[in-house]
Amino acid sequence: GLLKPLSYRDRRLVIASNRGPLTLRDSGSKGLEITPSVSGLVSALNPIIDQEGGAWVGWGGRLGKPDEIMGKTLPLTDRNDAFFHEVILTEEEVEAFYEGISNSCLWPLCHNFVEKALFDAEQWQNYRSVNIKYAQTLLQKSQPRDLIWIHDYHLALVPTSIRLERPQAQISLFWHIPFPAPEIFATLPWARELLKGLLDCNLIAFHTESYVRNFLITAEELLGAKVDHVTGSIFWAGRKIIVAAYPIGIDWRDFESLASKPEIRQKAHQLKQASGGDYLILGVDRLDYTKGIPERLKAIEWLFENHPEYKRKITFIQIAVPSRTQVKAYQSLRREVEETVGRINGRFTEDHIPVRYLFRPLRKDHLVTHYLAADMCLVTPLRDGLNLVAKEYVATNGNYSGTLLLSPFAGAANQLKEALQANPYSPQETAEQILKGLLMAEGEKKRRLHSLYKSVKEQDISWWWKRIKQAWLTGSTITVSPKAT
Ligand code: F6P
Repeated sequence: GLLKPLSYRDRRLVIASNRGPLTLRDSGSKGLEITPSVSGLVSALNPIIDQEGGAWVGWGGRLGKPDEIMGKTLPLTDRNDAFFHEVILTEEEVEAFYEGISNSCLWPLCHNFVEKALFDAEQWQNYRSVNIKYAQTLLQKSQPRDLIWIHDYHLALVPTSIRLERPQAQISLFWHIPFPAPEIFATLPWARELLKGLLDCNLIAFHTESYVRNFLITAEELLGAKVDHVTGSIFWAGRKIIVAAYPIGIDWRDFESLASKPEIRQKAHQLKQASGGDYLILGVDRLDYTKGIPERLKAIEWLFENHPEYKRKITFIQIAVPSRTQVKAYQSLRREVEETVGRINGRFTEDHIPVRYLFRPLRKDHLVTHYLAADMCLVTPLRDGLNLVAKEYVATNGNYSGTLLLSPFAGAANQLKEALQANPYSPQETAEQILKGLLMAEGEKKRRLHSLYKSVKEQDISWWWKRIKQAWLTGSTITVSPKAT
């Protein structure tokens, strides 16, 4: 097996995340359609619940009336020891809780886009009540001794409802996005309430040490909590809370094995040939303003403007996966990206079209085909909790070749040290690093890729879960040395 099961007998793992592992759709004549959900978080947690068994509480994408809280229970493995418990949301809840507070307030705020954050008190009421709804489902579907593992910024108040009912509960929360500096977090009118919610956990984990630092200082400054910065502990309400950095990993074997399939390699070869240029450069992101897509396009534009010989040699493919399409900021970003692509192609197309843009979800085998075909992958977010595309690109190409250009503002930059780096806010710097990557000697390319591959393989999804489990069950972290007495 990939991961060793939990060592505590009769303690089940019970996960809660906004989006559940399965998406359900009532499609009239065809009945209920059930498909795996597309989300980085879901792909990360799937192998874990598969190994451990247990329960997973989450939204399955279906809308209902206010009194319909719980939907279907569906098996997640064929061994019948892991189940998905579907949460139903109302249309109003999707607007206020998911599109509103989660994605128009907490998301921009935590990514340092203060000016984009909308603070709406009515929506916050709704966020509270939806959190209670998830907590009620969790309480119903778990036993007092179970390990309650909550995910992300949508569910920050869930620990409070659980702690109230079960003072002895073992609760952990993984925060998948950045945690901002205290002065940014403090602009949230409900900052203290949210922090207290998180402090009802036993363990809170983030992707990087800097998010941990921000969180510790924020708890200290906004709540006056007692903090031990050396061990990463907070003393609050008579309890000790562990706060630690565990960057998430991927199931690299999956990418490695797809990348070795002859039919996929053949398709990748064809994709490269069809692009017509010497170099194929790739960007893959959810269409989100944190990902720096317009900035990346401007870097490509700068490159063609200042090195016109490359407009025939380079094809840049940007895959933008539709995301949160009902949220205004995402709609205006889409217009901006499409306009920019049009402008660049309008200026630089001769017999070759330099920029290709896809706005659609991509099947995993197609994704791997693109990773394989690309000489270089641009992962240049303005801010990103971690970024798994960077790791997937490395896992796909580790045995072959490829160059990764990474923003220092992606959490993954802490682990992927041998990637090329560029400040995404500077089109010139980004363009120069792109050229550096394209012209780099083969030996150095290989050396860098091997080092990246090594870290992606070592710090993979089972490494991540092992560390979290250890910190949770023993109450101490592996990475931080205990305070000297
Ligand atoms: O990483 C943050 C996150 O919200 C994850 O929970 C999720 O996998 C991803 O972004 C996609 O977001 P959404 O669930 O809104 O489609």
